Amino acid sequence: MLNRLKNIGLMTLAVSALTIGGLTSANAAGASAYPLKEYDWPHAGPFGMFDKPSLQRGLQVYKEVCASCHSLDMVAFRELKALGYNVDEIKAFAAEYEFPNGFDDEGEEKYRKGFPQDYFPAPYGNEEDARDANNGAFPPDFSLLGKSREHLSLFTPWNSIYGEDYIVGILNTYHEDAPEGVELPEGMNYNEAFSGNLIAMAPPLFDDIVEYADGTPATTEQMAKDVATFMYWAAEPKMEVRKKMGLKVIIFMSILTIMLYFVNKRVWRKIKKGDDIA
Ligand code: HEC
Repeated sequence: MLNRLKNIGLMTLAVSALTIGGLTSANAAGASAYPLKEYDWPHAGPFGMFDKPSLQRGLQVYKEVCASCHSLDMVAFRELKALGYNVDEIKAFAAEYEFPNGFDDEGEEKYRKGFPQDYFPAPYGNEEDARDANNGAFPPDFSLLGKSREHLSLFTPWNSIYGEDYIVGILNTYHEDAPEGVELPEGMNYNEAFSGNLIAMAPPLFDDIVEYADGTPATTEQMAKDVATFMYWAAEPKMEVRKKMGLKVIIFMSILTIMLYFVNKRVWRKIKKGDDIA
């Protein structure tokens, strides 16, 4: 009886560890013939925080290159504060966009400038238009893509696929020609990271396709890493808050565990093994 009570603490710890393990693990996707290159992301790990200059560069790549095909429906301009911009900069950024604003007396559509509370406008009105413009393929929305292509495997971490590595993989591993024996249908491109290796998106990045405001050399790999960081932030904007809170909770729980251990010892101090306490 007593031994059992004493073990409750240990059992609770073990059960929580298993639950956390179970919640964070998911089955890894099937192994590919081309393993993804793995990068050291500054925001990875329990204490990792976003690299703000990289986020800003990623926003620039998204705006100047990807936004003509990919929407970013769930991000409002005001949220760019997290990238290190101040209110005036965000107002100026939003004002570069135009939004439909009713009709004038002649029945013509009117437009107004964007405000910080507006969301990034989509490049196409609907999925049909998007497919018409892209050879029948649909450019997915970027809001959650960074997370949705991620497969984390806690017990077999070597099988994990990180969303950012996947995005860099897509952008950085186009082949000019398909390998021998693979037929490349019209409008398709050969890509190492995409499932099935045939992707309808033409390579969107070339060296120096953008000129970075901060002077960083715009190599394809650099732009891919920056836009992947930006997309990861878009998919998990509260990551930093979550990690800071997690750390506080763990510190609190550790102190509480130590205190409870001594409380437990004190409460049961006078009872010896084998005593009848019913
Ligand atoms: C000319 C239009 C166009 C541009 C510009 C473009 N894409 Fe795409 N993208 C597509 C289409 C279409 C698909 C869907 C491909 C398919 O299903 O075969 C796609 C697919 C993707 C995928 C794979 C999504 C998945 O389902 O796993 C990623 C990642 C991606 N694009 C990232 C980008 C990034 C980052 C940029 C900017 C640097 C960009 N794209 C620019 C049209 C575009």
